[in-house]
Amino acid sequence: MGAVAILCGAGCRESHDDTPIYLDKSQPMEKRVEDALSRMTLEEKVALLHAQSKFSSAGVPRLGIPEVWCTDGPHGIRPEVLWDEWDQAKWTNDSCTAFPALTCLAATWNPGLSDLYGQSIGEEARYREKDVLLGPGVNIYRLPLNGRNFEYMGEDPYLASRMVVPYIHGVQRNGVAACVKHFALNNQETRRNSVNVVVDDRALYEIYLPAFKAAVQEGGAWAVMGSYNRYKGEHCCHNSYLLNDILKRDWGFDGVVISDWGGVHDTRQAAANGLDMEFGTWTDGLRDGASNAYDNYYLAQPYLKLLREGKADMATLDDKARRVLRLIFRTAMNTDKPFGSLNSPEHIAAARRIAGEGMVLLKNDGDVLPLDTEKCRTILVVGENAIKMMTVGGGSSSLKVRHEYTPLEGIEAAVGDDVKVVYERGYVGDVTGSYNGVETGQDLADNRSEKRLIADAVAAARKADAVIFVGGLNKSGHQDCEGADRKQLGLPYGQDKVIEALAEANPNLAVVIVSGNAVAMPWIDRVPAVVEAWYSGSEAGNALADVIFGKVNPSGKLPFTFPVRLEDNAAIAMGEYPGGASVEYREGIFVGYRWHDTRHIEPLFAFGHGLSYTTFEIGNARIDRTTLTDGGTIRLSVEVTNTGKRAGAEVVQLYIGDDSSSLPRPVKELKGFEKVALNPGETRTVTFDITPEALQFYDDTRGQWVAEKGTFTAYVGAASDDIRASVGFDLE
Ligand code: BGC
Repeated sequence: MGAVAILCGAGCRESHDDTPIYLDKSQPMEKRVEDALSRMTLEEKVALLHAQSKFSSAGVPRLGIPEVWCTDGPHGIRPEVLWDEWDQAKWTNDSCTAFPALTCLAATWNPGLSDLYGQSIGEEARYREKDVLLGPGVNIYRLPLNGRNFEYMGEDPYLASRMVVPYIHGVQRNGVAACVKHFALNNQETRRNSVNVVVDDRALYEIYLPAFKAAVQEGGAWAVMGSYNRYKGEHCCHNSYLLNDILKRDWGFDGVVISDWGGVHDTRQAAANGLDMEFGTWTDGLRDGASNAYDNYYLAQPYLKLLREGKADMATLDDKARRVLRLIFRTAMNTDKPFGSLNSPEHIAAARRIAGEGMVLLKNDGDVLPLDTEKCRTILVVGENAIKMMTVGGGSSSLKVRHEYTPLEGIEAAVGDDVKVVYERGYVGDVTGSYNGVETGQDLADNRSEKRLIADAVAAARKADAVIFVGGLNKSGHQDCEGADRKQLGLPYGQDKVIEALAEANPNLAVVIVSGNAVAMPWIDRVPAVVEAWYSGSEAGNALADVIFGKVNPSGKLPFTFPVRLEDNAAIAMGEYPGGASVEYREGIFVGYRWHDTRHIEPLFAFGHGLSYTTFEIGNARIDRTTLTDGGTIRLSVEVTNTGKRAGAEVVQLYIGDDSSSLPRPVKELKGFEKVALNPGETRTVTFDITPEALQFYDDTRGQWVAEKGTFTAYVGAASDDIRASVGFDLE
């Protein structure tokens, strides 16, 4: 026990040696948790388990155990809302740095940047005195219509796993819990609160769970958020199979399960099925309730009643309270945590760097990009997304930023005064600019007819040396936005017509898509250069300019497939979408490139695709032995050379295919990748260690992961459809 100095009324100090164990930092955490728990009343334990305001829960005031403060997540720290309302609190000190959307982070294929992202956003959370960051999201990209895909890390469980772990480490280093969401199977927004997902165990374990498992076991996430939808008929926020059996028992998760906001529906289930903290349940607030309306939460008075009547288990209550105490010790009561920082130059630089590294050069015929300002003296920028702020909107991830550089501003700043930048609108999409009381303050009104807008853009294009069209989706409803799905794969607001007309008027055209989802590109054969720029946060415009003018050599790779047509997507072709009361994932494990490969459906742009301003050669793949045994490793080596004239980075991707197996398997699956920075002419050897684990599939009849003996092929390439080397080996 440590000593504590107590300040007496008269100002005298006396020393006591009776510091309670739970306050003694030198004691092991579990001992502190037990000590705190032993001092708490039934009512105090229950009070830990539900919200007391929109984003906070009570601590134990009597014992000096602090409240828990949550914040969205996952791209920046959400501005303050009122205690009991969604309205803005109108603080003037809560403008944050917006980091790029998680699709962009995933597209960097750079785990180091994921750590930087987590560290930076964790510092912002810490500075704003938040204990739990509601993110990152790792729901798998099942189809391009999901309105929330931009908040997730793509279609591949391995990529999402490798990228989510460092994010969590970075955040939690700040004494802020990462709350990984939405567990699980929340892959569409349509009927998200009720839809029951029917999925086979192979797809569950091989596709939809691995990133969560990695987040918990390798990332050590302190919190997980349940999802709104149902699975096996039970809502996922109180789903015994997902939360008690898989998350807590099988994976050994010792943190808290937090409900999604309003995702709790029943007290008995909430009590018994693995939920620890309830947030966002609808109440009539403090204004109109008979008493504090949070008392009406499922895990508040109704739970207390069950406990008092002996109808709910005290041991389960203690388990929940222990988890919340652990969370508080790890965050709010961690006196060693750093102080954090907000909008620091380092955060701005991190946002710009991640954005630049995540942008994907999809096509670049004739080396249209990077634009050479010596030759391009007049640059025409067209499109609403060149001027529209994108950090406001999209649902709970919407932010209030200290600044956001739009693409047009970035381009203007990059070229300086001697190059003329002309802007034309081209189309009018959604001119509104507010979300949840945060206003962009932009006036985007334009009353020209569609015909006029196109004619004006075309006239300007004819006079320009180069044209950059910046369009795509936005964060409005039915685009990339929470609460509803997209209605089509095609670009909205007649953008295809504008692009076609521009391509006709000026061959020196680059199309920049700002989106968090794949879009159709019927004009692709007529457009020489295309960039996927994502929602890239505060520094969006500067990062885009870095890529357009070659300050940054693109090295992003797609974290999901761009299909030519919506029908080419597995869920649309084979599975069900959006379903009714239930949605059946009939495509099973064949999600994304797994489907395209198996069905020989050529994508518009494949998973893992992304070009550079230089070229890379990937040499032959060599292995140090041809037979893999249990517990053994095969080391695969491959040389990668920068064969072009600029420094750049290539992502060397390792896929493995099972040549024959007792159950259907994808042609190949991502099992390793490494981003390699190379100067012109430089060669480096990349190595991958292949273990039997990488060869496993989930055998749903046995309920086990198994690797079957036989022949496998390791494929090494620069994209899932650009395999440059392959080598076979056996598993014994
Ligand atoms: C979203 C969560 C979010 C929460 C709190 C919910 O609507 O699904 O992702 O963290 O709101 O804003």
